[in-house]
Parts: sequence; C-alpha cells; structure tokens
Amino acid sequence: MEHTSKLITGSLSGVLQGHKIALCVTGSVAAVECVALARRLMRHGAEVYCVMSPMAQKIIHPYLLEWATGNPVVTELTGQIEHITLAGKGPGHVDLVLVAPATANTIGKIANGIDDTPVTTTVSSAIGARIPVVVVPAMHESMYEHPAVVANIEKLEHMGVAVLAPKLEEDKAKIPDVDTIVDRVFAALGPADLRNRHFVVTAGPTRGWIDRVRFMTNPSTGKMGIEIAREIISRGGSVTLVVGPTLLALPEEAEIRHVETSQEMMQAVLDAIAAYKTSAFISSAAVLDFEPAQKEDRKRPSGEAYSVQLVPTPKIIEEVRKKHKHLFIVGFKVESGVTDEELDARARAKVTEGICDLVVGNDERRKGAAFAADTNEVLIVGPKGFLRKVPLASKREIARVIVDEIVKRI
Ligand SMILES: Cc1cc2nc3c(=O)[nH]c(=O)nc-3n(C[C@H](O)[C@H](O)[C@H](O)COP(=O)(O)O)c2cc1C
Repeated sequence: MEHTSKLITGSLSGVLQGHKIALCVTGSVAAVECVALARRLMRHGAEVYCVMSPMAQKIIHPYLLEWATGNPVVTELTGQIEHITLAGKGPGHVDLVLVAPATANTIGKIANGIDDTPVTTTVSSAIGARIPVVVVPAMHESMYEHPAVVANIEKLEHMGVAVLAPKLEEDKAKIPDVDTIVDRVFAALGPADLRNRHFVVTAGPTRGWIDRVRFMTNPSTGKMGIEIAREIISRGGSVTLVVGPTLLALPEEAEIRHVETSQEMMQAVLDAIAAYKTSAFISSAAVLDFEPAQKEDRKRPSGEAYSVQLVPTPKIIEEVRKKHKHLFIVGFKVESGVTDEELDARARAKVTEGICDLVVGNDERRKGAAFAADTNEVLIVGPKGFLRKVPLASKREIARVIVDEIVKRI
C-alpha cells in the first residue's frame, strides 16, 4: 500500500513526473531544509529517496525523511548495495543525485574519490555511471573560503558535477532557498530546449502615484510572470525579468529590473529588448491601464473629498511592436466574468491586429484564476484560429504549457 505522504505527489506540477531523485543529506544544520525540499520535489511529481551520512543522522532523524518521502531512508550500506541500486548502471537507478546540504567534508571526499559514508559512496557511483549530480554547499563562510574547499568545488565542476552557489549572508554560505534548488533540478532534468535564447518577461503590478504617500495599483503578485521566468531558466534560457513591486522571491538566475510605474516598466522593457538578441517578449505584468493625470508633490491633507483624474497609460506591447516588427510577443488579457467564447474573441483581437503572436486570456472572476492565486485557468490563442484551453492548474504548470507553445513557434 502506498505511503500517505505520497498523496502530495504532482500537486504543483508534472515537471518531474516519472523522475526518481536520490536526495543525499550530510551533516549541516541546513539539513532542516530537507523536508521542505523533498516535499517540493514530490509536489512537482518526483519520487524521492533519501540517503544520509552518519553526521546528518545526528542533526535530523531518518524517520523524518522517511515520513517526508514515504520511502525507506538509506542510513548505512548493507548487503543490498544500496548505492548501486540507487546510482549504479543497472535498471531502475535514479535520474539525478542531489546532495543538499553538502558539507565541506563531503565535498572534499567526493572531489577526491573517497567513499566512506552512504552519501559519498552513492555520489561516487553516480559520477561513474554518468548520472547527473547536483551539489548544494552549506557551511560557515570561513569554511567555504578555505582554499582546499574552493579547489574541491572546482574539481567537482571539472568532473561535470553542477554546484549551486550558496547565499552569502551573516558570515555563512547558506543553502539557497528551496525554489532555487528545485529550479536547478528542473534544469538538470529538463529538455534544455531554450539554450542560448534570451527572453524579456514582465511581472507584477505597476503603481500610479496620487500624491507623495498614496498610489493606485492592482492585486497582481507577479506569480505568473515569475513562474514563466523560472520555467525558461529551467530549460536553459536566460531571462531579464522586469518586475513591479512584489513580495515574492525572484529567480536568482534571472537579471532583475525593479520598476514601479508603467512608464518605468516600458523603458526597462525597451532597454532590455535592445540590449540582447531577444527571442520573445512575454508581457505578463498587470500594467495599470489608467493612472492619475498628475502626482501631487505633497501629502494631501485627509478629511475632504477630492477627485483624481485618471488618464490611460501607453500600452507596452503596442510600443514594443512598433519598434520590433518581427519580435515574438506574448500578451496577457484579463477579463471579468466572460464566457470562454468571449474570452477567446477579446484575447484574439490583439493577435488579429498583429500586436501579439500569442495571447493568454484569463478571467479574474473564475475560482482560483488570475490575481494573487497560486493557480490559474487560461486560454492560449494564436493566429489561424489556434486555441488551447488549459484547465485550472498551478501557475508553474500553466507556465510550462505557455513556454511549450512559445518553443513550438520561435
Ligand atoms: C550542529 C552542527 C552543524 C554543522 N553544520 C555544518 C555545515 O553547515 N557545513 C559543514 O560543512 N559542516 C557542518 N558541520 C560539521 C560537519 O558535521 C562535520 O564536518 C562532519 O564531519 C560532516 O560529515 P558528513 O559530511 O559525512 O555529513 C556541523 C556540525 C554540527 C555538529
């Protein structure tokens, strides 16, 4: 009978569906992140098997990882030759070995072919069997800067092992956040069909200032555009992400341009498109259609009613189209309480007018769709009557479908 912990499998996306991952945990305090990491990989569809060094088992108990993954945890090597079953050349081996967190000690051993823990032996076997290995160092900065550790990391990279850069803060080389690690796993297992391609993506809301302390905006969080950027990066592409105010974590590998107003977003987009050989512009930001005609350069006293005149803002996709006749442009259209037919017709107008190559239509009235939700339900429309309906799914899953449709056309 299947472990109930596995019920979450695939709840966020099917990106890792059918993939088996060995999550190797070593003796760093960052081992506490492993439960979240294992479960995020599972939510994207992976089957996760944990392997622990003896020191890791003093920091977190193997029961916790057995619960998290629903699979037995390798805590010692036995007559079952667990390292070969998991990461040898035989059938049924894992598709990827992820060492997270990786101590200075384990990095040193792997780099020098020393195998004296279940983790180091599993990794050695994986390297020999040409199974992709991703190592995620975590340690105090003093250890990370030791010349031997620096040299060992370089050795790993020369062996073809992917080493994920830690976050350097508070004198520590900290394990990156879970999403960043998962993105690297996607990249290692993904189709890599966007290598050498650059994309400009917008995300989030813009602000229209009324006076020095008040502005109008909309409820966009930027989630959809951020997931599109992550999807592109996971497939080997590079991204300039032009993002309005958001509290969400941004993909560490994207070039980020923070903006506030619609004009700033427009300028940043035009600059980014001009700076790179851009394969496509994906306009998923919720840019204000209207903004106050002027910003009062003071804080208007409270108490009295007053009117603010709103004027339309310039349309970024239209400006981009004027300057770049052949650029592949993806627009987003938000409607409110319309049927699929109306949504199709309204989204399609931008394709017919020659402004967009694809338009993603969504309806903010539908449950779990559009603003501030983790999910969305969209229609993707294109030329010659192309129409693809993507039923309610996580924004990551929707991002994957949108990027699939872009890949087919660029
Ligand atoms: C509470 C605790 C936290 C530790 N955190 C780290 C760490 O973040 N990074 C590191 O390289 N070593 C860390 N160490 C030291 C390692 O556990 C030690 O080098 C050990 O030999 C590593 O064994 P392993 O690589 O087989 O897990 C820590 C030790 C303890 C007791």
